[in-house]
Amino acid sequence: MTGLGQAEGMEATNPGERTGGRVVRGRLFGRNVLDGVFRAAPDEDLFLGELLVAVDAATDRRYLFRVVDVTYGSEHREPGWAERIAGTLLADDERGEAGLHPLHEQARRTYRVAACRCLGYLAPPERPGAPRTVFRKPKSLPTQFSAVVAPEAEDFEFLARQMGDLPVGQLRSGETVVDLRVGIPGASLATHVGIFATTGMGKSNLMQVLAAGAMRANGRYGLLVIDPHGEYRTALGRHPWAGEALRVYANRALPATSSLRISLAELSVDDLRTAYEWSRPQEEALYELERHYSTGSGAAGVSTSSGGEAGQGLAWLAAFAAIDDLAGFRDVELSARVALSTLQVVHRRARRITTLRCISPDPAVSVGGRIISDLLAGKVVLVDVSGLGSTEEVLVGSFLTRRVLDEWQAAYLDDPERHRRMPVVAIALEEAQRVLSGNKDRESNVFPRLAREGRKFNVGLCAITQQPRLLDDELLSQFNTFFILGLADDKDRNILRSSSKQDISAQSAEIQTLMPGECLIANLAAPFAVPALIDRYDHLIRDTPPPPAPRPTAAANVSALVD
Ligand SMILES: Nc1ncnc2c1ncn2[C@@H]1O[C@H](COP(=O)(O)OP(=O)(O)OP(=O)(O)O)[C@@H](O)[C@H]1O
Ligand SMILES: [Mg+2]
Repeated sequence: MTGLGQAEGMEATNPGERTGGRVVRGRLFGRNVLDGVFRAAPDEDLFLGELLVAVDAATDRRYLFRVVDVTYGSEHREPGWAERIAGTLLADDERGEAGLHPLHEQARRTYRVAACRCLGYLAPPERPGAPRTVFRKPKSLPTQFSAVVAPEAEDFEFLARQMGDLPVGQLRSGETVVDLRVGIPGASLATHVGIFATTGMGKSNLMQVLAAGAMRANGRYGLLVIDPHGEYRTALGRHPWAGEALRVYANRALPATSSLRISLAELSVDDLRTAYEWSRPQEEALYELERHYSTGSGAAGVSTSSGGEAGQGLAWLAAFAAIDDLAGFRDVELSARVALSTLQVVHRRARRITTLRCISPDPAVSVGGRIISDLLAGKVVLVDVSGLGSTEEVLVGSFLTRRVLDEWQAAYLDDPERHRRMPVVAIALEEAQRVLSGNKDRESNVFPRLAREGRKFNVGLCAITQQPRLLDDELLSQFNTFFILGLADDKDRNILRSSSKQDISAQSAEIQTLMPGECLIANLAAPFAVPALIDRYDHLIRDTPPPPAPRPTAAANVSALVD
């Protein structure tokens, strides 16, 4: 078929000249500005999510494509031809005569068709040979039949400068890893980060990698990680910079940790309302009790839910939990205004809370202040709540989150100068659907408030969940950065698609087939959802150099040596 080019009105050109010497993997033939379709050889191994470049020789632009589907194509005009051929081959197999009917001109008659999403194009360099730095959204059609080639490092140089100062891994093209570090700007912690994946896909590993990035950021970012399973403590403790940059508070007595002690007086009814499910009457009972204890009698008194007017918070819970004759207390002190069964529920919970190891009746005991100063110093603060139940974990998380938000908000309002110097801080929470679901969205819950208002004060949320579909839509739309790892459930992918800050509508199949550690990063810093392979935390710390020595004290000697 040497005459093909001439017969179809094409001039034969040297392909190396047009494509910079790269192997041509296909030729573009369709479809529109946003979607490209190209034909590749029948044995061309194309992967979902693979990044490819269409070299437009006419305009000297390079169009970046992402493969979203790969199908079979055939030039045969007869309908059902391929299906019949498969039947013939199968019959040969059954007779033990495989190879009896070889396909003629297979390379020309059958091929693969890759459907792609156009991510944008690299404008021609300023001078011939200079790097291409300008990347634009797709707005024009590449020349038809442009050669499609595999990208090289130079095609991604423009991305390097948008990848921010919290590195998380390498750029990924399908299953191939590209030599380009990817990450997010630390400032985007304040605009909330979501980490979404089915179980075992690498959420915790990614969180550890982010924490490692924060540790190395020289105090620019504070990160409060609430660790329900105790899995982060050993991992983060092994980081070479942990001595400087990590503080650990634990509910249990553990080596190299401070003990987590929160005074009842620091907690508020709002924390209780966030952590536990309360029925309407139970909530009324809570306020009734708070009122009773804040006035010292059953007389009416107004009490604020966020701390009590004497700054006593939930200190009354200790006295209440100590009551043995609940029925008598109800009749005498509460004038029987609360049903006994309701009171019993509150009492049981109060007992449980007051006997927790991390809760102290002593108002002088408090880690809140220390945790705040660690965060102000730009440290990673790990609060190991392993051993606590899920509700108590939320109680601790709610308290700490409120403290952080109040501190940063107060600085923002009262002392902008100080606020400007404060690090961006984020609070990382596992199983975030517990506090961010639609039915949890009320004023007493600090987490929706953080999602809505936090960015103004430089306080962000880093929400980790396996079930993004349970998050409230409106709260999810407040998240500017998504890390989407493998997600098996279609509903989860759909909800992320509608609230992602980058278009991922064509990538459902890719997300479904991601392997552990493979992800898409969608945020506003990059021009498209960036495919990445997250570092393995173990490998990352192995390759992390020790922190720089505190300060060269021998400066005088050194200069003497140099002289
Ligand atoms: N970036 C990665 N590269 C290679 N393998 C990874 C990566 N991240 C995670 N894995 C593998 O997946 C396993 C599970 O990872 P991880 O514990 O982070 O998942 P998870 O999503 O937090 O799971 P769970 O839902 O159980 O908490 C790891 O033990 C590791 O083998
Ligand atoms: Mg995990």
